[in-house]
Amino acid sequence: MTLKLIRNARIFTPQDEGNARGGADQDTLRQFDRGAMAIRDGQIAAIGEESAVLAEVAAETVHQEIFCGGRCLIPGFVDPHTHMCFARRREAEFEQRIAGTPYLEILKRGGGILSSVKSVRAAAEDQLYRQTRRHMDAALRLGTTTVEIKSGYGLDTASELKMLAAIGRAAATSPMDVVATFLGAHAFPADYAENPDDFVELVITEMLPAVKAQGIATGCDVFCEEAVFSVAQGRRILRAAKDLGFEVKLHADEVNDLGGAGLAADLRAASADHLLAVNDANLQRMAQAGVVANLLPATAYSLRKPYARARDMIALGLPVALATDCNPGSSFTESMPFVIGLAVLNMMMTPAEALTAATLNAAYSLGLAHRVGSLTVGKQADFLLLDGESPAILAYHAGVSPVVAVYKRGELVSGAEGR
Ligand code: NIG
Ligand code: FE
Repeated sequence: MTLKLIRNARIFTPQDEGNARGGADQDTLRQFDRGAMAIRDGQIAAIGEESAVLAEVAAETVHQEIFCGGRCLIPGFVDPHTHMCFARRREAEFEQRIAGTPYLEILKRGGGILSSVKSVRAAAEDQLYRQTRRHMDAALRLGTTTVEIKSGYGLDTASELKMLAAIGRAAATSPMDVVATFLGAHAFPADYAENPDDFVELVITEMLPAVKAQGIATGCDVFCEEAVFSVAQGRRILRAAKDLGFEVKLHADEVNDLGGAGLAADLRAASADHLLAVNDANLQRMAQAGVVANLLPATAYSLRKPYARARDMIALGLPVALATDCNPGSSFTESMPFVIGLAVLNMMMTPAEALTAATLNAAYSLGLAHRVGSLTVGKQADFLLLDGESPAILAYHAGVSPVVAVYKRGELVSGAEGR
C-alpha cells in the first residue's frame, strides 16, 4: 500500500454530516491552518492539523511527501450542470444577443439550441467525443474534478444516444468522475413544432426506455420554459423517468416563473436549476422537500439578467449549489472559479458559502457525496492547491484562475506538484 502525505497546507473543506448544507451550515467550513492529509490508494486516510496527522500515521511507511508551502488546499470542484457535449460554437449568435435579440427569440427563429441540434446531428460520435474532452480538459485545469454532462442537442433517439455514447467515452478516458444526464426534452425539434405533445410521447415511449436499456445516463432533466416544455409536459416526462429509476432534475424558472420549482418539490427532484425568476412560495416548497437549488450565475451574467436570489434561498435554509451551465449559447465557460467570483460579488454569497456550493452541495445534487465533495476520511482524495491563503482568492483574483495544482484520487492531473 502506498501512503502519500500532503503537508503544510491551509486546508478548508465543508464538513459532511450526511446532508447537503443549507442555512448557516453552508457558511461553516472546517479549517486547519497548518494542515496535512494522508492518502492511501487514492482515498483520504487522515486529515487534520499536521502534528495530529503525523502522529496518526507514525507506524506506516510514507512513500511520498508533498510540501505545499502554506498554500490553500480545498476539495476539487463538482460542476453539477453542464452541456459540454456539443459540436460547434455559436459566436455569431452571441453577437446578435449582445446587440439586443433575446435568447428565447433566437430559439423561436430556429437558432439557439436548434442550431446546436443541426451540428450535433451531422457530427460523428468521435467528433463529439473529442469536443467534449476539450471542454472537460479545460474544466479540469480550472479545478473541476467531477462534472455532470447532459445530452439534449440530438432530439431524436439515435442522436441522443450518440451524444450519451460520446459522453461515456469521454468519461472513460478522463480522470474526472462524470455523471451523464439525458435531456431529450431540451427543445422541440422543428418537425414537431405543430404537434409538440407527440414529441413528449416520443421522449417517454422511445427515448427514455432506449437510454435506460443502454445504461448510459443516470439522470433525466427537462427544460421547463415558455415556448419550450410546459410544467404539465415536464411532469409527465419526469414521472416516467422516475418510474424507470432515473434521478430527476429540471431547468426551472430560468427566464419566466412557470412553476418549475414547484414541480421539482412535488417530484422530490435532486435539484432545481437556474431559478432566476422563481417565486417565494415555490422556494419554500423546495426547502421542505429537500431539493438543492442549483444556481448558474454565469448564465445570468451572459444573458444580462438579474442574478438568482441566493441570499433569500440561504435564509430559507435551502442548500445552494453552483454550476457553470457550460454550453455554446447562454453560458460559454468551463470555469468554476469564475462562477464562484460571480456568486460572491454579485449574489452576495460568502466565500465559504460559495465553496460549499461548488463542492459538497453539488455532490449531493448528483448523488455522489459518498465519494466526493469534501475532504473527509474515506472519500476520494480529489483536491486543489490555490495560489492564495483562503477560498476568498477565487473571487478576489478576478478573471484569473488561482488553481495551481489539481489532484484526482491522490494523483496530480494538472499543474505542478509541491516540493
Ligand atoms: O441551461 N436553458 C436551456 N439550456 C441551456 C442553454 C442551452 C443552449 O443555449 O444551447 C441553459 O441555459
Ligand atoms: Fe442548462
